[in-house]
Amino acid sequence: MEFQSIQSLNGEVQIPGDKSISHRAVMFGSLALGTTEIHNFLQGADCLSTIGCFKEMGIEVENTGSVVRVHGKGLHGLSAPTSTLDVGNSGTTTRLISGILSAQPFESVVNGDESIQKRPMDRIIHPLSMMGASITSKHNNGCCPLSIKGQPLKGIHYDSPVASAQVKSAILLAGLYAEGTTSVTEPYVSRNHTELMLEEFGVPITVSGTTVSLSTATELQSQKIMVPGDISSAAYFIAGGLITPNSCIRIKNVGINPTRAGILDVCVAMGADITMENVKTGTGEPVADLIVKTSSLHGVVISGEIIPRLIDEIPIIAVMACFANGETIIKDAQELKIKESNRIDVMVKNLSAMGADIVGTEDGMIIRGGLPLHGTTIDSKLDHRIAMSFAIASLLAEGTTTIEGAECVNISYPNFYRDLKKLSQR
Ligand code: S3P
Repeated sequence: MEFQSIQSLNGEVQIPGDKSISHRAVMFGSLALGTTEIHNFLQGADCLSTIGCFKEMGIEVENTGSVVRVHGKGLHGLSAPTSTLDVGNSGTTTRLISGILSAQPFESVVNGDESIQKRPMDRIIHPLSMMGASITSKHNNGCCPLSIKGQPLKGIHYDSPVASAQVKSAILLAGLYAEGTTSVTEPYVSRNHTELMLEEFGVPITVSGTTVSLSTATELQSQKIMVPGDISSAAYFIAGGLITPNSCIRIKNVGINPTRAGILDVCVAMGADITMENVKTGTGEPVADLIVKTSSLHGVVISGEIIPRLIDEIPIIAVMACFANGETIIKDAQELKIKESNRIDVMVKNLSAMGADIVGTEDGMIIRGGLPLHGTTIDSKLDHRIAMSFAIASLLAEGTTTIEGAECVNISYPNFYRDLKKLSQR
């Protein structure tokens, strides 16, 4: 797909539902008694993979496009799948479902696409095995396909070496079925959607610092879930609005959960003009409209506790940093290497090819902003966040930018190019 530079970004955009929250709504709805109604569900390929897996285990899911109804059968209502559970490209589906499958009275196989077959699953196999789970990586490489034979589990305390919501959630979901208390301590707080939503479904959760615990659950009760707009998807328009001249965008109904909103803190530290309106912070997930205006940005250091709060936004932050004055240093972000692609390598290679001053490091990158970018051919590696980041970079690049595999945005934002075009003024 080819992209040209534009003059400005202006108007209003309603971004689709949060990916992390949509996955959890289907999973917890399947394990609850009664019908869970999900509004603003993300109709992206990853979340549709989660629906597919639970349908395969006997859960009826109606998807009208605007509402998803999950007819849950209770904690012990899943039935043995008759074929492999296909997780597609989705790490969240793989890791969270493994926690659930570890406790079911049947055997299952979980597998997905080429990318998922390279992503490390030992980070969940290890703690789940400590709980008594029987999980085998079929090729003996710590990756999918995984064969999972459900077992009676016991609660553990797990000191996680990584701040990962997927690891934490897999353990907590297994903990719903385990004898006694299950707790996870992380080096830094990762996104807490599992904790917030499990509480809504009636599971008591205790949080103390970076430790989360729960005890054996009796039953989950079905809920009505309003999924907020995904801040990870909003991030492309936040960055685009800030770096494109004469721009002003209203991004409506964005989830601003502090465990996800690290990008807003970084933007403010870079000198961004972003304001919030219609802030709703009742129970559950807080949301707001974001008003983003062209700003003169400067470089910052991004490291430590903020990293898990903006891990998926680092590719677009790297693009923003190319248009900021001075140096931006991103460190402690080695997790980027094991996302849908190696996002350190892919960002460094492609931004360098566009003329940016960027070097990769062991745990991040260093970008010196201010050099003009020019169009070139970008290999997205079929990573949705890479494709969207370079679509934004192309708005300010001289000449034509060609993004290979651009259709992979379907994973998290199927209408991304349509929305970008709507806001673009040439
Ligand atoms: C997610 C957690 C993060 C994030 C991913 C979604 C989740 O992964 O990168 O896109 O929904 O729990 P890690 O837990 O591996 O950091």
